[in-house]
Amino acid sequence: MAIPFTNLITFFFLLVITKFLNSTTNTALASRQRQGTTYSLVLGLRHSRDTLPIPRALSGANDHSSSTTTAPKGQSEAFAMRAVQDGYLIPLYLGTPPQVIQVYMDTGSDLTWVPCGNNLSFDCLDCDDYRNNKLAAIFAPSHSLSALRDLCSSSFCIDIHSSDNYIDPCTMAGCSLSTLIKFSCSRPCPSFAYTYGAGGVVTGMLTRDTLRVYENIFSPNLSREISNFSFGCVGSTYREPIGIAGFGRGVLSLPSQLGFLHKGFSHCFLSFKFSNNPNISSPLVIGDFAISSDHEENLQFTPMLKSPMYPNYYYIGLEAITVGNSSETQVPMSMKEFDSHGNGGMLIDSGTTYTHLPEPIYSQLLSTLHSEISYPRSPETEMRTGFDLCYKIPFTSDNNSSPVDYPDFLPSITFHFLNNVSLVLSQGSHFYAMGAPRNSTVVKCLLFQSMDDGDYGPAGVFGSFQQQNVKVVYDLEKERIGFQHMDCASSAASHGLTRNPNFVN
Ligand SMILES: *[C@@H]1O[C@H](CO)[C@@H](O)[C@H](O)[C@H]1NC(C)=O
Ligand SMILES: *[C@@H]1O[C@H](CO)[C@@H](O)[C@H](O)[C@H]1NC(C)=O
Ligand SMILES: *[C@@H]1O[C@H](CO)[C@@H](O)[C@H](O)[C@H]1NC(C)=O
Ligand SMILES: *[C@@H]1O[C@H](CO)[C@@H](O)[C@H](O)[C@H]1NC(C)=O
Ligand SMILES: *[C@@H]1O[C@H](CO)[C@@H](O)[C@H](O)[C@H]1NC(C)=O
Ligand SMILES: *[C@@H]1O[C@H](CO)[C@@H](O)[C@H](O)[C@H]1NC(C)=O
Ligand SMILES: *[C@@H]1O[C@H](CO)[C@@H](O)[C@H](O)[C@H]1NC(C)=O
Ligand SMILES: *[C@@H]1O[C@H](CO)[C@@H](O)[C@H](O)[C@H]1NC(C)=O
Repeated sequence: MAIPFTNLITFFFLLVITKFLNSTTNTALASRQRQGTTYSLVLGLRHSRDTLPIPRALSGANDHSSSTTTAPKGQSEAFAMRAVQDGYLIPLYLGTPPQVIQVYMDTGSDLTWVPCGNNLSFDCLDCDDYRNNKLAAIFAPSHSLSALRDLCSSSFCIDIHSSDNYIDPCTMAGCSLSTLIKFSCSRPCPSFAYTYGAGGVVTGMLTRDTLRVYENIFSPNLSREISNFSFGCVGSTYREPIGIAGFGRGVLSLPSQLGFLHKGFSHCFLSFKFSNNPNISSPLVIGDFAISSDHEENLQFTPMLKSPMYPNYYYIGLEAITVGNSSETQVPMSMKEFDSHGNGGMLIDSGTTYTHLPEPIYSQLLSTLHSEISYPRSPETEMRTGFDLCYKIPFTSDNNSSPVDYPDFLPSITFHFLNNVSLVLSQGSHFYAMGAPRNSTVVKCLLFQSMDDGDYGPAGVFGSFQQQNVKVVYDLEKERIGFQHMDCASSAASHGLTRNPNFVN
């Protein structure tokens, strides 16, 4: 989740605020949307996952995500798994001629930004581990004939400066009062800082350029072109080596600028065993097709909750958790309600890898699981990875199955969301093999984390790891989130998102 800085100069001369915003930027884009016809995009998301060398102790959370994850407890331990740089990538074709930049798809933020600079001047602080990341292409605005700084009067500029007063950005830009009141100042949007919950910060300038989105990555067809796409041209970041495409509900987000804000989108994340596999990608459908439910009778919908604190992000309500055949464990009210300050609810976030639960429900889940599992624990792996529950599971290699698919007889975990929606976490999306089998044993860990500061912001986060092999529908029209178990590899094949049509595994 992104929390934009608000350090604006308060402009106190004009107390009467008239809404000029309708006359600006965004309407042209929206009106390009064809009326009355259905229109959808089917994109392929590549799952990029790098397990990096164990970082220096104290390096803290490395989740790129815009989540509200906080530093791990026990900071002095080494957190191998925290050094995973993980996410689902969309290729953006920006500029004239187009430069291809891969960015993470993030439902927990609005801004789309790319590493930006002429002459490789992009600077990423505390990114030593990622410096050789080949994904980190850098957008050079000077090589694009169509790149322009966005203006201080644009609705995007006002939004990124999270201004209640629409003339603040132009005031900061030094516009005169006479141009301010006429809304005719054409100075550039002042530079911004945008922060992510995991501690990342990016700073840059709001830029406009042509964005092209191509449908199928294996036989690309131009699907949509926006000539005035507004995005962050980011010159320096703290711990954010790769750009991000915001899929929130704000004006800046990619679905919003593509004109799909009142429709929705859906994704089906491939099982993690396909990560870094160049031959298949996860379906991301944007538009009518994502939410048409003709052949989706198995979709279960839970309402989107409106967070007073972060109204642009997607919240759902968790009511209970079931482990195996045991009875339901109720979770605190904070998982489905907001308090008077707007804290609470469960954020559903493609930019956070592992699901985060607050105390005491997290510890209760661990002890219920522990009471139902008879395999020996692996304290070494727990220490090394930072995960709290790891088991040594016997593995016989005279079986073709991989350690990921190997039947492990671990109990299922079922999440019960508001509106009687039950989601059984698929095999491989709660416990996961931490490495190759050794000595006829494979070690699997529960890939959940505790939400250390569950009192502020969302009470929990539903992460991408737990969304594998589930079609997740963001129905923005009806304000609801749908879930349906699905073999996302088959879904990818049916959408033509495999290199070879007969691609199986
Ligand atoms: C790019 O870097 C090279 C060498 O570092 C320098 O000669 C050149 O002037 C730079 N170009 C720009 C546009 O800054
Ligand atoms: C683009 O789409 C059309 C119709 O769907 C198809 O006939 C054509 O082969 C596609 N082009 C490429 C380069 O894949
Ligand atoms: C894009 O911006 C340019 C300059 O600001 C303007 O001339 C043009 O009409 C805009 N195009 C659209 C489609 O909004
Ligand atoms: C991807 O496909 C190519 C060509 O078919 C093949 O050589 C390669 O092994 C495949 N890679 C993976 C990870 O499956
Ligand atoms: C849970 O219930 C199912 C059917 O009701 C049964 O097959 C399974 O063995 C039970 N699992 C445990 C761990 O008791
Ligand atoms: C191989 O795996 C299957 C399930 O995938 C299991 O039923 C079978 O018992 C296993 N065989 C051996 C020899 O472990
Ligand atoms: C909730 O769903 C279950 C099956 O998924 C059904 O048996 C039950 O009647 C439903 N309860 C309510 C209150 O709708
Ligand atoms: C492998 O397992 C056996 C018995 O389970 C144990 O005695 C041996 O030390 C283990 N070897 C290694 C390398 O862990």
